[in-house]
Amino acid sequence: MNASEGRIVVAVDVGTYKVVTVIAKVDEYITAERMAGYSASHIIASIGGSQIECLNSRGVVAVSNPNGEISPTDLARVIDAAKAVSLPSTKEIIHVLPRNYTVDGQEGIKDPIGMTGVRLEVDTHIITANSIAVRNLEKAFSEVGVDVDSFVFNGYASSFSVLSDTEKELGVILIDIGAGTTDIQIYTEGSVAYSSVLAIGARHITNDLAIGLRISLESAEKIKLYLSQVPQKRVIRPDDAEGRKEQKASDEIDLAELRLPEDLTKVSHKTLVEGIIRPRLNEIFTMVGLEIKKSGFGGQTPAGIVLAGGGAMTVGIKDSAKRMLAMPVRVGTPQNMKGIIDEIQNPAYATVIGLAQIGSRMGEEKSLPFGFSLPKIPGMGGSGKVMKKLFELTHERILSKPSY
Ligand SMILES: Nc1ncnc2c1ncn2[C@@H]1O[C@H](COP(=O)(O)OP(=O)(O)OP(=O)(O)O)[C@@H](O)[C@H]1O
Ligand SMILES: [Mg+2]
Repeated sequence: MNASEGRIVVAVDVGTYKVVTVIAKVDEYITAERMAGYSASHIIASIGGSQIECLNSRGVVAVSNPNGEISPTDLARVIDAAKAVSLPSTKEIIHVLPRNYTVDGQEGIKDPIGMTGVRLEVDTHIITANSIAVRNLEKAFSEVGVDVDSFVFNGYASSFSVLSDTEKELGVILIDIGAGTTDIQIYTEGSVAYSSVLAIGARHITNDLAIGLRISLESAEKIKLYLSQVPQKRVIRPDDAEGRKEQKASDEIDLAELRLPEDLTKVSHKTLVEGIIRPRLNEIFTMVGLEIKKSGFGGQTPAGIVLAGGGAMTVGIKDSAKRMLAMPVRVGTPQNMKGIIDEIQNPAYATVIGLAQIGSRMGEEKSLPFGFSLPKIPGMGGSGKVMKKLFELTHERILSKPSY
């Protein structure tokens, strides 16, 4: 077997709504049934929550080689220098993402190796997490016999699978709306500039529907999902029916097929969409707007907004985002996976696919931002058994009712 043959990456996204595992073979996508006999090279898991914070830090070193040629060692040293930030004892660094290098005052260099200079500087983006949250997640995995190689910030993982290189170059904002949290990842000039997590998500929309209609959360969730499927254009135009005046179809939607225990069958579409859902969406995007302002990168993202996460499928979401943030908006689905099953080509799977993509590149040092990977956790038991266990666990969770 050559080095790349049979290289397997197991990606686990532990969300508040769903837990999903993707098992990917580098250059190929395999199904769980075919995975026996492969060994897992990397198990990579998501980490999120509003304890995620970021800062941008600069490192400076003198180039060590007397002839001034910059080596990978210099890069490692300058990144270490940038990492030397004072953090509260409860926080730890999970990613150090280099943004730009400066060699003897010449800014904006992406790959300085081989260049000649005396002074090397780097601008990095550092993402931190609460140490207790990291330990707890590690513990939860190890209790089921799984050792995780790396934890990756949710928003960063999603940005990997849904954003194009052009968008990142131009400047773009990824917003992953999950059930409990909304992740924000801003890119400028091709690299990560800002990361943040808001403690609000699509679960709040379900709550609002439950309260507004006086129904259970389960029923409210069903209605919410149903609404994102019914056609939005409900107006009969005059050219459709000769000479007839423009008529509005009834605003009522029929919920009979949902068979809700509350016996709710007819509700006003307008009340649900404009009266209940839209105000909450507007609130989410107002909070996102404040966060963009706080980042200091507002106005540097001409590629606009890319929405991901299950919440990105909420009815009317694009209009709300466009209006509140005054930027172009698109809904992103995971890209660049071969043989992917349709079911997973959905904004809700942006994180897990992004994790798999990051994991698949972890062996190739150059294809990930330098300084990206976490220290390897010793004793990673990469066996088919581990994957089977993971698959069983997550499969059970997916098949069981989501918790919200
Ligand atoms: N078709 C749909 N229409 C509207 N909302 C949807 C749809 N599908 C999923 N959602 C909502 O998206 C949310 C779940 O999103 P997602 O699967 O991204 O969450 P998660 O990753 O588990 O959560 P988090 O990232 O917050 O930990 C739920 O609130 C769910 O109701
Ligand atoms: Mg998520």
